[in-house]
Amino acid sequence: MTPQLLHVLIIGGSLALFGLDLLLPLGVANAVLYAGVVFLAALSPSPRLPILTAGGCSVLTIVGAWFSPSIPDVPLWVALSNRTFSLVAIWAPILFLAQRRQTEALLRRLNDSLETRVQSRTAEIAAKELALRQTQEELRALTSRLLTVQDEERRRIAHDLHDDINQRLAMLALGLRTLEQPEHTLPESVRTTLDQSQEDILTLSNDVRHMAYRFHPSILDDLGLDAALRRLLDDFTHRTKIKTLLVNPPFITSPSKAIATAVYRIVQECLSNITRHAKATCVEVELFSSERELDLTVRDNGVGFEVDAAQHERLGLGLFNLRERALAFRGTSRVQSQPGQGTEIHVHLPLFEPSSL
Ligand SMILES: Nc1ncnc2c1ncn2[C@@H]1O[C@H](COP(=O)(O)OP(=O)(O)OP(=O)(O)O)[C@@H](O)[C@H]1O
Ligand SMILES: [Mg+2]
Repeated sequence: MTPQLLHVLIIGGSLALFGLDLLLPLGVANAVLYAGVVFLAALSPSPRLPILTAGGCSVLTIVGAWFSPSIPDVPLWVALSNRTFSLVAIWAPILFLAQRRQTEALLRRLNDSLETRVQSRTAEIAAKELALRQTQEELRALTSRLLTVQDEERRRIAHDLHDDINQRLAMLALGLRTLEQPEHTLPESVRTTLDQSQEDILTLSNDVRHMAYRFHPSILDDLGLDAALRRLLDDFTHRTKIKTLLVNPPFITSPSKAIATAVYRIVQECLSNITRHAKATCVEVELFSSERELDLTVRDNGVGFEVDAAQHERLGLGLFNLRERALAFRGTSRVQSQPGQGTEIHVHLPLFEPSSL
């Protein structure tokens, strides 16, 4: 209903009732009808209109008391009570309305303040979540940087051991050999010591070479990932007597040095876990690649383990590092295992490297 129509109905209704009041001895019935007009005014969203209407109707009721025809045989006090009842009936909806509006306003205020608090808490939580995500990203970047630095450091130590220490040991052995020339007449005991020292130097040199290889297999740089993995698995079988199978079709796109090192280290960690935890008799390593990605699977037939429990307890760093290595290249890793059913580790790596590395 439009406000104009409402105003017309209120004014028209009040005047009609006043006219009726002046013409007929209606008594209390008239009051109830005035209350109807006030109810009509209460439909308006304006807070003043019902009060103005109630005021106007009250004036008309009081004026009507003087001019309306009196009911025959009814005492004056009954007529006055009728008018008083009229006034109560007119103002009762106003009181009810005022109270309802007050309650509504209070509820609205409460609702607003609750909404504001919810909004500020939501904003707080969102800010904390953002900070947490940033910290996680930073931590991930730091871990990936640490792993890269560790690999670089290992490569450097391996080169130093191989090219520097080993060369010096060779020179030392050469120096000792010159003492053994026939023109040097040496006592037998000195000659024996010399032989022993040469043997020790040879053993030391072999140890240093092995150590250098463990730090960073030169074959990885010289002959590539495929050859390095074959050598790693052969050494593993030789050492542990566990059978190995490498399925590695030729690469379509050769992985970069960084990715090759990551894959090598991941397989190394898997083999170390198999030696220490799996009690397996057979290991399969599969390495499939396309132009843009590479998939590695290391599978053993060992005792298996509860993956969730191991991740929850965080007993070691191996599987954690494995995951971080994959993430550092925007890759993924998945460990599948159950007690008694062996273990399968999948790593998926894109072959293009993120620029941050
Ligand atoms: N191939 C596997 N077979 C059976 N259990 C395994 C295998 N690989 C991992 N696990 C279980 O998962 C746990 C976590 O492995 P993870 O490599 O993270 O740590 P770790 O080998 O115990 O220690 P770290 O690698 O730091 O020297 C291991 O302790 C072992 O119980
Ligand atoms: Mg481990």
